[in-house]
Amino acid sequence: MKLERIILACVSLAGFANTTLAADAGKDLYTKTCAVCHAAGIAGAPRYGNAAEWQPRIATGVARLYSNAIQGTSKGMPPKGGNAEASDGDIKAAVDYMLASVKGGAAKPAPAVAAAPAKPAAAAATAAPAAAPTAAVDPSSNTSGVPAADINSFNRLLRPIGKRNPPPVEDGIHDPANDGTLALMAPLAAYGPLPKSLAGNRVNWVKAIEENKINPRWDRNDQAATPVVIDLNIVREVKGSMPDVVYPHKQHTEWLDCSNCHPAIFVPQKGANAISMAAILLGEKCGVCHGKVAFPVSECRLCHSKKKDFRPAQAQAAAAPK
Ligand code: HEC
Ligand code: HEC
Ligand code: HEC
Ligand code: HEC
Repeated sequence: MKLERIILACVSLAGFANTTLAADAGKDLYTKTCAVCHAAGIAGAPRYGNAAEWQPRIATGVARLYSNAIQGTSKGMPPKGGNAEASDGDIKAAVDYMLASVKGGAAKPAPAVAAAPAKPAAAAATAAPAAAPTAAVDPSSNTSGVPAADINSFNRLLRPIGKRNPPPVEDGIHDPANDGTLALMAPLAAYGPLPKSLAGNRVNWVKAIEENKINPRWDRNDQAATPVVIDLNIVREVKGSMPDVVYPHKQHTEWLDCSNCHPAIFVPQKGANAISMAAILLGEKCGVCHGKVAFPVSECRLCHSKKKDFRPAQAQAAAAPK
């Protein structure tokens, strides 16, 4: 039944003109990827429907807007909006979609962000005060159409209690219309036996590997392949009172290939990369993964784990009489 419907959908879609498809793709991608920043103007992103903010940019030529959207800019526009899977054509369509919103200078209401259509705005507005206090700050429950001016609104691992590990049909990631989604094990059941953590999807994945609770397959095709694990810590000194950051290669190379990070995200040379919290929050550097597929940015101490000279100084003071 479902399959027939999918085939029918394909046939009827094919009947549309290419332009319709492109416009739809543009709107879809905008809603899924770009709205997070471009609806509310996060980090200075020109807002959807705001002609004044787009005008000076349009004046520099649409070709430049396309290439900046694809390659990113040093002022905070991530390459392809952080969605590396999107094709150049889709990105252009999303730019066109935003530009169409300011044609003639009339402001149009921004469409909702991806997670929003699940609930009607009115229902959410009335439900919010009754819900747990933490629910009010859940970026994904924002249904106003304009994401809260919270740079972490894309950080799907920063979810309050009650919004953790929803079943695949409700998580906004899987296609609820696909039969395969129903066959997936619900995360809550799957994660039950694994070591707990207080953040992200509430599993301590590092411990899960250490304790042999999981044994991720390294190679899709070769069952015997094993990862190249290197035990190399890189300490990054942090100015101010925050403890220094210890970047551990071991915990990463148990999951990841060297090429997942080198050289695209980090040049393999201690201190050669400019890393800042701002970049991480924008989904760059460590933020390519942390907050998306690894523990979120809220867990300061997991990264900032090396206390400043504090303990050695005490130890020295104790050892050497004054
Ligand atoms: C993480 C936030 C973020 C996301 C996600 C994002 N943008 Fe941007 N975008 C920005 C910021 C910040 C700027 C302003 C940067 C600048 O002036 O160089 C910007 C600027 C732009 C510009 C204007 C560039 C210029 O040269 O004036 C275009 C076009 C654009 N974004 C397209 C997109 C598209 C298309 C998507 C989705 C596929 C997207 N953006 C997703 C933050 C974002
Ligand atoms: C999750 C990302 C990530 C992965 C995967 C990764 N690295 Fe790194 N690597 C880093 C970071 C971050 C640094 C530090 C860069 C800096 O300080 O600017 C680094 C630094 C290095 C350095 C420089 C050390 C020094 O003292 O100058 C080498 C060599 C290196 N990595 C090799 C590897 C090898 C080999 C692998 C695969 C077995 C690997 N890396 C996997 C993130 C990664
Ligand atoms: C390519 C993806 C990726 C990048 C980039 C990345 N990480 Fe990770 N990181 C992971 C994964 C996956 C894990 C293991 C799962 C988890 O703990 O959520 C992990 C685990 C860690 C841990 C281990 C925590 C523990 O419980 O022992 C630390 C510390 C850490 N990352 C710090 C960093 C820092 C600092 C950076 C940037 C310099 C960085 N990571 C960049 C994917 C990444
Ligand atoms: C995924 C790892 C990670 C997490 C989680 C993390 N940080 Fe950072 N933080 C870094 C890295 C890497 C740097 C850059 C250090 C350097 O200068 O080389 C940094 C730098 C900083 C700095 C120095 C100024 C700056 O912006 O670069 C401050 C302050 C800071 N972090 C605070 C925090 C706070 C507060 C939290 C928790 C809300 C946090 N960090 C969570 C990795 C992390």
